[in-house]
Amino acid sequence: MPALVLLGAQWGDEGKGKATDLLGGSVDYVVRYQGGNNAGHTVVVGDQKYALHLLPSGILSPGCTPVIGNGVVVDPSVLLSELSGLNERGVDTSKLLISGNAHIITPYNVTVDKVTERFLGKRKIGTTGRGIGPTYADKINRVGIRVQDLYDESILTQKVEAALDIKNQVLTKLYNRRAIAVSQVVEELLGYAAQIEQYVADTVLVLNQALEADKVVLFEGGQGTLLDIDHGTYPFVTSSNPTAGGACTGAGVGPTKISRVIGILKAYTTRVGAGPFPTELFDEDGEALRRIGHERGVTTGRDRRCGWFDAVIARYATRVNGLTDFFLTKLDVLTGWEQIPVCVAYEIDGKRVEELPYSQTDFHHAKPVYEMLPGWSEDISKAKTFADLPKNAQDYVKALEEMSGAPISAIGVGPGRDETIEINSFI
Ligand code: GDP
Ligand code: IMO
Ligand code: MG
Repeated sequence: MPALVLLGAQWGDEGKGKATDLLGGSVDYVVRYQGGNNAGHTVVVGDQKYALHLLPSGILSPGCTPVIGNGVVVDPSVLLSELSGLNERGVDTSKLLISGNAHIITPYNVTVDKVTERFLGKRKIGTTGRGIGPTYADKINRVGIRVQDLYDESILTQKVEAALDIKNQVLTKLYNRRAIAVSQVVEELLGYAAQIEQYVADTVLVLNQALEADKVVLFEGGQGTLLDIDHGTYPFVTSSNPTAGGACTGAGVGPTKISRVIGILKAYTTRVGAGPFPTELFDEDGEALRRIGHERGVTTGRDRRCGWFDAVIARYATRVNGLTDFFLTKLDVLTGWEQIPVCVAYEIDGKRVEELPYSQTDFHHAKPVYEMLPGWSEDISKAKTFADLPKNAQDYVKALEEMSGAPISAIGVGPGRDETIEINSFI
């Protein structure tokens, strides 16, 4: 059985954690391929709620091997505290594998993330402050520290020296901060080495051998399509590729192995941090979506910006990811509106535009063109089949499917594992 990718089709927080967990029981490996602990994935199992940041959501499925791929950035202190938090709750994490090529989020990268944001002032990105951007910048600048470097003290020291050489100049001269001592960083990183050694592996080899042996591999994206460094709303993006191609580079698996790409799509839209958001609401409806949908960041605790569903974005996600199908999430949150506006196109400087404009300036000017769909008032949280949904909810799903350009194969009607309507077989 070939590989599947599961990714966010909007600006993140679409419900990827729940979807991954749902599939976790039927797959052999769940692999994170990009991002780091900027992600916040919620999984609800029975009366237990888990918030995962760095670890793949498959870690909660016994029998599934969780993998942190080479494209991920790893903060070792976060990794260890997430592992011990799960162990305390009785979750077995011993199968975890971490790529030796994954880059490490060092303490100075976290510092640089925070001071850069402060320095940008009103032009700030609104990052999660977890050191993600500076760590990827070091990787591209070829001064990054990789997991494998923790096992060679001399190499580690040389690399930290190289990285801090310029950074300390910037920190002291530009940002008026104290210089960071090489020895202090090396000591801290070496302190993690023995604790994570058991997990470090050649994950590229493991995953390709697994695929050869007909195992099922699921790639779990962090963030979302519109936060992609290449295809998102740059510069208001994260510093990696959550889009489908990122799964190949971030895990070392060829595109010929991937047979299904599932886009996780919220029945409305949310965004955290700065950047354009055409359907954003600043009224009572936005407040209601936030309240009913519990739209508060899992990682930073910030309120999420909320707005109506945007079909232009969904179509774009279908295109840039080659989506085979969607999981539509949080349909239950829309219960109670008499009419539900859906953005079908934009008006940009007086012209109707059907597709996402490639120019960032145009996107900033985009005004949503809404179509009104009839709402429903019945409680849908107990629905088990599509036929259980009221007619207007069925029509809403069908309309979104039509506009978004790929079939909807599952519908979320609540946060729990079983609060899901399966339309097509999951695997
Ligand atoms: P992720 O980052 O994509 O994994 O999503 P988050 O976990 O950050 O945010 C999604 C939130 O919606 C979480 O609190 C989930 O428990 C919740 N959730 C997921 N699917 C559904 C659904 O179908 N209905 C409702 N009401 N909540 C859901
Ligand atoms: P999950 O996986 C929503 C946003 C931040 C900021 C921008 C850059 O839970 O969907 P970064 O710290 O990555 O440099 O911040 O990206 N962002 C997210 N928004 N969900 C996420 O993850 C996010 N990860 C980063 O708010 O706007
Ligand atoms: Mg999240």
